[in-house]
Amino acid sequence: MCIRSMSSEKKHNKKITVVGSGNVGTTTAQLIAEKNLADVVLIDIVEGIPQGKALDILEACPLWHSSSNVTGTNSYDDTAGSDVVVITAGLARKPGMSRDDLLHANAKIIKQVAQESVKASPEAIVIVVTNPMDAMAHISQNVTGLSRNRVIGMGGVLDSARMRSFIAMESGAHPKDVQAMVLGGHGDLMVPMYRLTTIGDKNITDVLDGPVIQAIVDRTKNGGAEIVGLLKTGSAYYAPAASTVEMIENIFGIKNEILPCSVYLNGEYGIKGVYVGVPVKLGRNGLEKIVEVELTEEENRALNISAEAVGELMQKLGMK
Ligand code: LAC
Repeated sequence: MCIRSMSSEKKHNKKITVVGSGNVGTTTAQLIAEKNLADVVLIDIVEGIPQGKALDILEACPLWHSSSNVTGTNSYDDTAGSDVVVITAGLARKPGMSRDDLLHANAKIIKQVAQESVKASPEAIVIVVTNPMDAMAHISQNVTGLSRNRVIGMGGVLDSARMRSFIAMESGAHPKDVQAMVLGGHGDLMVPMYRLTTIGDKNITDVLDGPVIQAIVDRTKNGGAEIVGLLKTGSAYYAPAASTVEMIENIFGIKNEILPCSVYLNGEYGIKGVYVGVPVKLGRNGLEKIVEVELTEEENRALNISAEAVGELMQKLGMK
């Protein structure tokens, strides 16, 4: 009897590379394997860590009924032919630092890993997680020469999930019944869109008082720093990894949502030449469509100010 033929489930034909075997990278790899979405290659420059983490995740796969093959490596050769590349490599914030303080150190790392990843996987969709994320997504697109639909930044999904959690906490609603969207750069000037936030079939303003909503907006903007302040030795990773996997499930067509993601704007929302978070549809081609919702003058101004802040980072890098 051939044991192999007993498996009723086909092996994966999809492959995802996760660059960086820190907390965000390994948790992303874990979720991909746990959800049985694809084979995973975890790559890092540190020897042993990606191999050890990958083996540990692989050994959990029988318990998850997952057929994902999970491997760790230090060589981009092993990442060849990936459908999706998730870039998490780089330094994380320490207490008191803003995401923007990581600009120069992470720019150097991202340039190299984006180029190497795309050389090995020229057909991949690239999701950029490393901070300051909007600027790192722009660099990745620039150095690889990929079209804008193939390089997308993860930030808005995370910020929106945080906002939904805080609304659920304050209102007592189930988080799944809370819909919220945070636009703009994944930085201190992000734009939580409370006007479009709903709890069940009600607008947030019908359920919560103005000062409570303002506190939720402020806590959302400060959401990453709140966790850095508590952890002291690193930044958030469970929700960032889950947000990245949400994007992957939309790219694979398993889910069909409108998600706020950082994409290169070319006049949409009156913004040109920067990566910034707006509502999009993701799919097999990466960015399939930018959804242009009508904004109030105030929201539009806030979005533009946030985009200008990303533009200033690109100027500091001499890329604008
Ligand atoms: C955060 C980091 C990952 O928002 O940007 O937690």
